[in-house]
Amino acid sequence: MLNILDYEKASQALLEPSASDYYKSGAMDEHTLADNTDAFRRIKLLPRVLNDVSNVNISTRLATLTVDSPLIISPTAFLGMAHPDGELAVARAASASNNIMICSTMANQPIEDVTTSTQSSVWFQLYVYKDKEATLALIERAKNAGCKAIVITVDAPFLGQREQDVRNQFQLPDRLHMSNLHALGHRKLPDKTGHSGLSHYFDELINKSLTWRDIRWIKEHAGLPIYLKGILHPKDAQLAIEHGVDGIIVSNHGGRQLDTSVASIDALPAISKAVNKQIPIILDGGIRRGTDILKALALGAQCVGIGRPVIWGLSHSGQQGVEDILTILQSELKLVMALAGCASISDINAGLIADL
Ligand code: FNR
Ligand code: LAC
Repeated sequence: MLNILDYEKASQALLEPSASDYYKSGAMDEHTLADNTDAFRRIKLLPRVLNDVSNVNISTRLATLTVDSPLIISPTAFLGMAHPDGELAVARAASASNNIMICSTMANQPIEDVTTSTQSSVWFQLYVYKDKEATLALIERAKNAGCKAIVITVDAPFLGQREQDVRNQFQLPDRLHMSNLHALGHRKLPDKTGHSGLSHYFDELINKSLTWRDIRWIKEHAGLPIYLKGILHPKDAQLAIEHGVDGIIVSNHGGRQLDTSVASIDALPAISKAVNKQIPIILDGGIRRGTDILKALALGAQCVGIGRPVIWGLSHSGQQGVEDILTILQSELKLVMALAGCASISDINAGLIADL
């Protein structure tokens, strides 16, 4: 098991078919899903030489935090399908290498158990419900559990059309439930013949009339830093700053929402320009190699998030598998930084990208 793709291959065989389809799928024809990784390959590096790289340091800053590496765990739902320890295994792995974990609203394990399983910061990914009280209760619960930030996912008023999930009429296995949503009366996904249960759940319950005004409202109630996840347009990045948002995640949801939307790395340069270092930028989508991290940092991200690679490590070998994934990406980053002439994260800049 040398690289992330080895874990991808190994994990496919271990998962139940409907779980495997749910994890890997993108929306519609999966053009954006493919482009997220292809776009990194199109970008060429222009390395520097003769900078002492005998000690490469990948620690960095994200807002007021110092982190050991620029790697964050993106929120992914239903990790109990990948391993019995689910989100707890991921939280423990994050602790071992001090990475921030963003925990999904739709985790199988309760947020309180996730935060107590790790020394690292946990951020809570929030889906905003039509029911305002339910949304506030979730925020309150995340705060009481010790979450350090709220990440509002803004690219999913409806779920993207993942056709394999529709064919499978995707459902949670009987042994699993949505632990953060019991208090709202939702333990399981609803059944609807000919539909993905998750997509039907979104149709019924998730707020589709969310606007910038609500973001301000959530920020006032939360009393925690607010990140918006799912920004691709530079104008939305600017609006985020105007509305007091603390940071953004440039993301197309791993190609699972609007098919043919831009690869996240291709959206990054214009957003970095618009943000002009006023708030932190995290990028996710298609990070599979240390070179991908280097390119994202060179183009203006402070950190990158990984979604599916964590699931592959988790399904392969639980906590150890996730630790291995994080270690592989961190050591690849160190190696490629050295080969590009960078001894520290602050040496990384847009000059490393060819044809920019
Ligand atoms: C996701 N993603 C996601 N995002 C979110 O805000 N809340 C969620 O619950 C989920 N759930 C989820 C499940 C699965 C199976 C996947 C693959 C993705 C999106 C995720 O946070 C992230 O944006 C992408 O996964 C990043 O792309 P990569 O790293 O998977 O290529
Ligand atoms: C997904 C949702 C839960 O991508 O964010 O499946």
